Order: sequence, then structure tokens, then C-alpha cells
Amino acid sequence: MDGKILVTGGAGYVGSHVAMALADAGLVPIILDDFSSSSRAVLPRLSALAGRTVEHVEADVRDTAALRKLFHDHPIAAVIHCAGLKGVGDGETRPLAFWDVNVGGTMALAEVMGEAGVARLVFSSSATVYGQPESLPVGEDAPLKPNGVYGRTKRAAEDFLRDLTRANPNWRIALLRYFNPAGAHPSARIGEAPLGRPDNLVPLLCRIAGGGFGELAIFGSDWPTEDGTGVRDYLHVQDLAEGHLAAIRFLATAPGATAFNLGMGRGWSVLEVVRAFEAACGRRIARSFVPRRPGDVACYYADPARAEALLAWRARRDLDAICADAWRWQLAGGGY
Ligand code: UD1
Repeated sequence: MDGKILVTGGAGYVGSHVAMALADAGLVPIILDDFSSSSRAVLPRLSALAGRTVEHVEADVRDTAALRKLFHDHPIAAVIHCAGLKGVGDGETRPLAFWDVNVGGTMALAEVMGEAGVARLVFSSSATVYGQPESLPVGEDAPLKPNGVYGRTKRAAEDFLRDLTRANPNWRIALLRYFNPAGAHPSARIGEAPLGRPDNLVPLLCRIAGGGFGELAIFGSDWPTEDGTGVRDYLHVQDLAEGHLAAIRFLATAPGATAFNLGMGRGWSVLEVVRAFEAACGRRIARSFVPRRPGDVACYYADPARAEALLAWRARRDLDAICADAWRWQLAGGGY
């Protein structure tokens, strides 16, 4: 492909793995990040892994002047838009920031892309847009009923992007709904680096097994699942990154906006994840049961058939690989 691929939020957890997958495929990523929730230290690591300098521009995705300069200075062929605020609890307390960055940021980016004549966009959405699923597995045509601020900002950004493609058939957009990304690059040079105590299960298991983070509080033992704990569709971040690459290729020929679930298509309970993680790290994870977390659901997992059919993509790495790579990253320091 001629031109560079802009990865907004490219210093973040998903974005950095996406940038690496692009470089591995012989494409040229350029990162836009404001480092508000990521580290500059990821950049030299990406360049070392890629064997060439991975370029970056430091700016907020809402900064249209900075975006205009970027599109003026670099030949951009397509954009992968990962920049955004995430975190379900955080969204509830900071709705203005979440709407501004997640929806306003997407609008600012689209405005400047339109001016520059760049019309291919891959958008980081989330399975959170579905809310409580009515049936399993969850297909892309399931109703979108997010039950929190974070999910509503993702749904709104999706709606906006669909409106763009309706008004102007030049736009080609893939909406990627991530299930539960986890794990790290097998080199253990890039990975998820949450600040403080992680909220998500796998990074929390890494910290607990690493020591100093107490025990795992399992949110509920009475869910209507086989062992009573919550079931989720965990997806290796490397598989997720490859899904973005497949989506970029898909947009070369596909008009309109298309949503894709990126997930493994099956679920694992919290206890199954804990056991897999214990096997990967060779340590026992101390745990206890506590009441359910507000907003949690019993069980959800993807129907990834559309991604398989249209993107020729499917997850290739299993839960053991997720745990092994996450633990290797933790042993290497688990951060930047
Ligand atoms: C969470 C977000 C979701 C987001 C996803 C990104 C919520 C309600 N949802 O999903 O919007 O897209 O992260 O990865 O926050 N668990 C425990 N103890 C813990 C932590 C988690 O038992 O300390 C359980 C949870 O109840 C759940 C499973 O582990 O059953 C996974 O939790 P988590 O990693 O937070 O992901 P989700 O809640 O699925």
C-alpha cells in the first residue's frame, strides 16, 4: 500500500500492537498520541522491534491544527483510530471528558481526513456497545444497548461514522468491536501497562502473581454459569492487532461502514482464567469471592463469523498463550 497508516493512540496497549503488526506486514505506521495514558518509552521499543524508526507525532486527537499539519506533512493512506478514553467506572464519573475525546475526537479526525481526501478508517469500538446480550453468541446485528457512559460514547462514534458513509460513498469504514483483549507481544517488549491497581482480570493476575497486590477478589460466585463465575471472550492482543491489518486490507475494496466482532467465539470463566494463569506462571493465585461488581453481566462471547468470512481473520492464539505472554511481560517488568 502506498502511503503511511496513521495509528491514533498508537502508543497505547492496543495501538502499539497494531503499529507493530503493520510494520511486520511491511506497511509504514505513523503514531499520533498525546501520551496522556501511555508512555513515550514504547516508541524506541517499537522501532527496535520493527528494525526501523517508527515515526510519531505528539498531539491530542481533537487538535485539528495538529492533525492538518500531520496530513500535510505525511502521505496518509488510511487511519486506524485507537485513541480514546476507556474504563467503564471512569466514564461514569467523567462523562464530559469521555464524550469530548471519544466522540469529539472522532469527529475532529474525520473532519481533517475529509479535507485531506483520506477516506479509509478502522475504528476501535468495543463489545460494550451491546450491553446485556439477549442471546449468545453475540452477533453484530444484536441490539446496541450499552449500559454506561463509555459504551454510549463508542455507540455514538459508530453512529456518526455510519452517517458519514451514508452522506458520502467515498468513506470506507470498519467498526471493530473488541471483546476482552489480553496478553502481550511475545517479545515481552510491549504490553499493557495500567497505572495503579488494574481493573481488568488478566493484568490484575499479572500484578498479583508478581507480588504486592494482595489477592484476587472474584466478583460473584452465583452467576448462572457452569462454575458460578463470570464468562468472557478473551482475545490475544496479537490476534486483535492482526484483525486491524485484515480490516485495512478489506477496506481496499469494500464501500460503506461494516461492524466486526473481534473475539475468539467462546468464553472462559474467571476460575478457568485463574487456573490457566496459575499454570503459566507456576504460582498459586490467592483469591476470595466477593459480591458481584455493579454493571457486570454473567456471560458474553462473540460470534466472529463475519470477520472470518469477510476479513479472512480468526483468532489463532488460545488462553494459554494469552497467559504465557502476559506473564512474560510481567516478568520483564510489566511496564515502561
Ligand atoms: C471490561 C469492561 C468492558 C471493556 C473491557 C475491556 C466493565 C463492566 N466492562 O469488561 O467495557 O470493554 O473491560 O477489556 O468494566 N473480575 C473479577 N475480579 C476482578 C476483575 C474482574 O472477578 O478483580 C471478573 C469480572 O467480573 C468479569 C471478568 O473477571 O467476569 C473479566 O473482567 P474484566 O477484565 O474487568 O473485563 P469485563 O468486565 O468483561
